[in-house]
Order: sequence, then C-alpha cells, then structure tokens
Amino acid sequence: RTNPLVLGMETSCDETGIGIVRGTTLLSNTIASSMDEHARYGGVVPEVAARAHLEELVPAIRAATAEAGISLDEIDAVAVTSGPGLSGALMVGVGAAKALAVALGKPVYAVNHLVGHVGADLLRTEDDQTDAPLEYPTIALLVSGGHTSLLLVRDLVSDVELLGETIDDAAGEAFDKVARILGLPYPGGPQIDRVALVGNPAAIRFPRGLSQTKDMARHRYDFSFSGLKTSVARWVEQRQDASEPVPIADVAASFREAVVDILLTKAVAACVDFEVPRLLLGGGVIANARLRQVAAERTDAAGIALRIPPLSLCTDNGAMIAALGAQLIMAGHEPSALDFGADSTLPV
Ligand code: KG4
Ligand code: ZN
Repeated sequence: RTNPLVLGMETSCDETGIGIVRGTTLLSNTIASSMDEHARYGGVVPEVAARAHLEELVPAIRAATAEAGISLDEIDAVAVTSGPGLSGALMVGVGAAKALAVALGKPVYAVNHLVGHVGADLLRTEDDQTDAPLEYPTIALLVSGGHTSLLLVRDLVSDVELLGETIDDAAGEAFDKVARILGLPYPGGPQIDRVALVGNPAAIRFPRGLSQTKDMARHRYDFSFSGLKTSVARWVEQRQDASEPVPIADVAASFREAVVDILLTKAVAACVDFEVPRLLLGGGVIANARLRQVAAERTDAAGIALRIPPLSLCTDNGAMIAALGAQLIMAGHEPSALDFGADSTLPV
C-alpha cells in the first residue's frame, strides 16, 4: 500500500499529539500540552497528564482533521504510542485509538515512542519535499524530559537497537531540577539556556557522569545526570552557607556545558564505533542552543552528517507516530491485534 493516510496519536507524557500524514507528507500536527498544569509541581504529574489527555484528545482530533482538510472516514489506519511512557497517560491514547479504529472499521498500529522520534525525520511538508530522506544506518540521540537514549537504526520498521540510555534522570529532567535549584521557573531548559547566554561555561568544572574509564566498559553509551545535579546543588549550597552570591549565569552555563559535552561525546563515539556517518537528534532538549552549536561543530569535525528535524517534530507529537505507522503499512506489516495494552517500559 503506497502513501496511506494515517492518523497518529501520542499521549506518552504531557503532550496530547494528533498528527495526520499521507506516506511521508505531513498534513497536520496538533499539539495540546498540560505543561502549565505541572509547573507548580516542578515536573510532570502522571495523573494530571492522563486526565488532560482525556479532555484534549477529541478536540485535538477535530483540529487535526480540519487542518489536514480530511474527514475521519478517509483515513486508512490509526497509529498510537503504546510505550514507553507514563502508564496512565498511555492508556488514554491506546483506549481512544482502539475505539476510533473500531468505530471506523480501520486497522490500528501500536508503535514505540522512541522509534517514532526517529520517524519524525521522514516527514516533509506538501510544499517542501526537497530535503534528503532519512538514510540508514543512523545513530539517533533522543533527549527530552522523559528519555535520554542512543539508538542504532539500521531500518526504522525492522532493525532498531538501543545502545544505551540514562540510568537515572533524563537530560531534560536534569535541566528542570537544576533550574529549580537556581530559582528559575519550570520548564527549566529554556530558562537555563537564557541565563547561560551571559555565563562562562568554563567557570566551574562539573562532573561528566559515566565517562570515567571504570564506567566505560559497562556503560559506554549510557548516561547519568543525577550526580551532576547533586554536584550543582552542593556547589550552590556551599556558596549560600558562606553568604556569598551565587553566580547563576556561570552555574547555568557550566552545567549546560557538562550536559552537552556528555551527550555529544557519547553520540559521536557511537557513530565512530559503529562506523555510521550520520547522527539524528530528537526530543525537546534539542531546542538547547549550545547543544545545537556543539553538535554542529563536533559532527563537522568527525565527518558525520547531522540531521535535526524542525523543533515542532522534535518535541513529542502525533505526526511522528503517524509517520512510523505509515512506514509499517508500506513495509507490509500486519496491524496490531486489538488486545494490545500500554507498556510503560516498552523496549525498542
Ligand atoms: O520533548 P519534550 O517537549 O517533552 C517531554 O519530555 O515530554 O521535552 C521537554 C523537556 C523539558 O525537560 C525541558 O526543560 C527541556 O525539554 N527543554 C530544554 C530546552 N527546551 C526544552 N532543555 C534544554 N534546553 C532547552 N532550550
Ligand atoms: Zn519523546
């Protein structure tokens, strides 16, 4: 089946995403976020996220079909994130996707959220089909508030290998926690980026987790950010205990430098080790200005082609899920049996 019309649903975290694609052409990408409701807790509250999905899903479906200029009965299939993510949040999307598919008499495809992030790179708009398509193999570095993962993608629908992931906090979570330590509002990533502009990234040498020789045998492609966060907290406390001012810009810039360094050191190492001259970035942390800059510098120096989809396709969204669903259909995969569940730790 060529160029199927697919509606994708994404509810694994705090974004209610509905996207509609025809093959690799993006027709609409509607996102409602419950971010504001989580702000006062300093992080995503699972039940609040699930309840918001329940309220937002149908309006988002209506908005997405209107924007795409289609009616629901035209779609060929529904694709939905079945994991990994927050269980309650996932269950709302999975339930809604099954209900929609059954009501329309159309197949449903359960897909993996992380693989969906890679699928985002396939999408082109109707008036711009010029960009080169996703090429294989590629290394993918996915960094958001919920995940920090390094994948080796030989084929999107049949051969994706998880090389490593965070063993504690996600990178975005570390940005959010450090922002809180510095008295900056949630979400912390954009705030740290902003204050770091005038800071000195070499002012404080914060630790790079899992990069010592002793860690590298077991955790070559894994990440750890909780030690870094604790180290920032301790540094700030010592200043406060001594009644000295905290140089917020320097702390933010030095922290950001440590995160960016560790992410790209490991991503470039994976490209070199597996002789893969391509690196794809995805996830909300890709908005980070310093991360984008250092990624460009280091991939350039190593002869690696860098791919970064537009930010609206990097953050969690339904279009990437629809794109992956369309690939599964075009590769001849069978739809999911209707008794599939939500799996918060779904492997790639
Ligand atoms: O992919 P995303 O929108 O959603 C989920 O994780 O669900 O990512 C949000 C995360 C938050 O932790 C936020 O602080 C981080 O991405 N983030 C950033 C920046 N913008 C957003 N982190 C670092 N620098 C940024 N400019
Ligand atoms: Zn994500």
